[in-house]
Amino acid sequence: DNEPLVLGIETSCDETGVGIVRGHTLLADALASSVDQHARFGGVVPEVASRAHLEAMVPTMQRALDEAGVTLADVDAIAVTAGPGLAGALLVGVAAAKGYALAADKPVYGVNHLAAHVAVDTLEHGPLPEPAIGLLVSGGHSSLLLVDDLTAGVTPLGATIDDAAGEAFDKVARLLGMPFPGGPPIDRAAREGQATIQFPRGLTAPKDLANHRFDFSFSGLKTAVARWVEAKERSGEPVPVNDVAASFQDAVCDVLTAKAIDACRTHGVDTLVIGGGVAANSRLRAMAEERAAKHGITVRVPRPKLCTDNGAMVAALGSRLVAAGVAPSRLDLPADSAMAL
Ligand code: KG4
Ligand code: ZN
Repeated sequence: DNEPLVLGIETSCDETGVGIVRGHTLLADALASSVDQHARFGGVVPEVASRAHLEAMVPTMQRALDEAGVTLADVDAIAVTAGPGLAGALLVGVAAAKGYALAADKPVYGVNHLAAHVAVDTLEHGPLPEPAIGLLVSGGHSSLLLVDDLTAGVTPLGATIDDAAGEAFDKVARLLGMPFPGGPPIDRAAREGQATIQFPRGLTAPKDLANHRFDFSFSGLKTAVARWVEAKERSGEPVPVNDVAASFQDAVCDVLTAKAIDACRTHGVDTLVIGGGVAANSRLRAMAEERAAKHGITVRVPRPKLCTDNGAMVAALGSRLVAAGVAPSRLDLPADSAMAL
């Protein structure tokens, strides 16, 4: 097989990931997570994440190489998440990538984390039809992207103006007494409940659509859920946790899917790629597919392990860049916590 062998390093948040791909084929996806160390804080603590990356970097690299049955000498290029993300966390991955690149005389590609979340789908479903719309929903970001050409960068259409979708899941789970991260327990509880409570749909009123058509807002929803639960507790009645979970989840999924499909229709796009941890949500997948089908739009969602942060997504984007003949980054490539697309 003469397609380039590309290794990808991801350290933008709490997952240390090293993935290896050849062309569109995934050969290794090694992951170490510090999520348990953050659980008692209810969110990722940057300093704790950086230290965990430092400890996990070399062993995770070794596991990926072993899994793929290759050595660093076999690799044609190294891709690394250069941003956006936590500055200290990104620095560990970028420094490691430079070190390996220098030691083994390999080109290094600094890539954008959000573009990598879209690119990972190619490992599951093959080449991405372009243009496509990307909906990225995780604990750190909620964005709509127009993807004309993955290797030339993608165009942001909108993003959250306050909390990310996953952050809303985590905060609502906390107030319902569920563990962190809150997405999975809310997803499970919602299956046992009814979405009977009308919670607000952020930035969907006509006056908001004028300026924030493809933006999201979840902090008002989170507050509305908190108020509703408080009022119930004051009344002495039991809180119908499963119904609250289902109603909250429906409010999030309703806005995400409506705006994603609006973006597809506005830009004449018939492929919607969903990525990020929240893409694992069963209701989001079902609602997106149902609504997209009505407009002849195909929804692509990679398997859950590829939706959350990992090294394979970085390798996948690196592989596209190498295949497109894009020039590598310079060895003084910086980590850029606020990297634009
Ligand atoms: O992509 P990810 O692993 O990390 C980043 O934040 O970058 O996403 C984690 C987020 C968390 O907020 C978690 O609660 C959410 O994804 N999540 C879910 C589900 N599984 C994970 N949210 C809703 N439903 C799920 N099934
Ligand atoms: Zn991510």
